[in-house]
Amino acid sequence: MAIPVIDFSKIEGEEKAKTLAQIANCCEEWGFFQLINHGISDELLERVKKVASECYKHEREPNFENSKPVQLLNELIEKKSDGKVENVDWEDVFLLSDENDDEWPSKTLGFKQTMKEYRVELKKLAIKVMEVMDENLGLPKGYINNAFQGGEDDEDAAFFGTKVSHYPPCPHPDKVNGLRAHTDAGGVILLFQDDEVSGLQILKDGVWIDVQPIKNAIVINTGDQIEVLSNGRYKSVWHRVLAMPDGNRRSIASFYNPSYKATIEPAPGLVVGEVEKEEENSAKYPKFVFGKYMSVYAEQKFLPKEPRFQAVNAM
Ligand code: OGA
Ligand code: NI
Repeated sequence: MAIPVIDFSKIEGEEKAKTLAQIANCCEEWGFFQLINHGISDELLERVKKVASECYKHEREPNFENSKPVQLLNELIEKKSDGKVENVDWEDVFLLSDENDDEWPSKTLGFKQTMKEYRVELKKLAIKVMEVMDENLGLPKGYINNAFQGGEDDEDAAFFGTKVSHYPPCPHPDKVNGLRAHTDAGGVILLFQDDEVSGLQILKDGVWIDVQPIKNAIVINTGDQIEVLSNGRYKSVWHRVLAMPDGNRRSIASFYNPSYKATIEPAPGLVVGEVEKEEENSAKYPKFVFGKYMSVYAEQKFLPKEPRFQAVNAM
């Protein structure tokens, strides 16, 4: 089984209705899908790959050698323990946002400029994808994006962050996770993964399946806040990254998330629609401020999500 692949250029024109329906099915049944012909040029994507790899090699790799996962795995092997390394991931990661751009890696030629260009393009794509979701859910255009705003000031706008990750080759991939299983907390996630090295898997109907690498595709998935807004129509899906014995997997995940001040609740339109179906007539999720959700998520990221909704409801 493979993750569905959508030709996003068909979202305008003759095949619009069919493409909308395909994406609706992806959101309802999969929680993950891949976009090709998404409008971001290969030329830009090739530059992103180049600067990310160079940055890893020159600015990150030397530190990974001394990192916590490497130390813990070495200890485990020395002790000849049968156990696994717990509570850490075999991953090198840093975050790019508009707010921290003075802290972005600065020694790799072209990194900052290229990643800025990439983030501008990707943010536009995120907004288009959310509008497709609005349309499929029968919500007014811009509903999801508006719901993610925390106020009129710039600092209260929806948050767009980019996680640059590498999953270096691991000598004992059975003893540590690349990234432990979780659902994503926020809104829409756009992932530019490695062309060759696999490792990302999603849990579908109780089975882990690979998110097959496709050159220059963008993988889309929906987080817990889209699940709440859609009143459970679009469920956030469990995923994980396996540590791999060969190859250094590059993965650049961008998150379009609500402002910490945004109030999130099931879209009233979707709750009303349920009234006819007895007992299903209420919102299935609480109303909360996203910042509070994130304080719960910080403690419970790798645990089942339902208790997170209960915890934030009780706050
Ligand atoms: C994440 C995530 C997957 C990857 O950062 O939440 O799931 O391939 N990343 O890095
Ligand atoms: Ni994730």
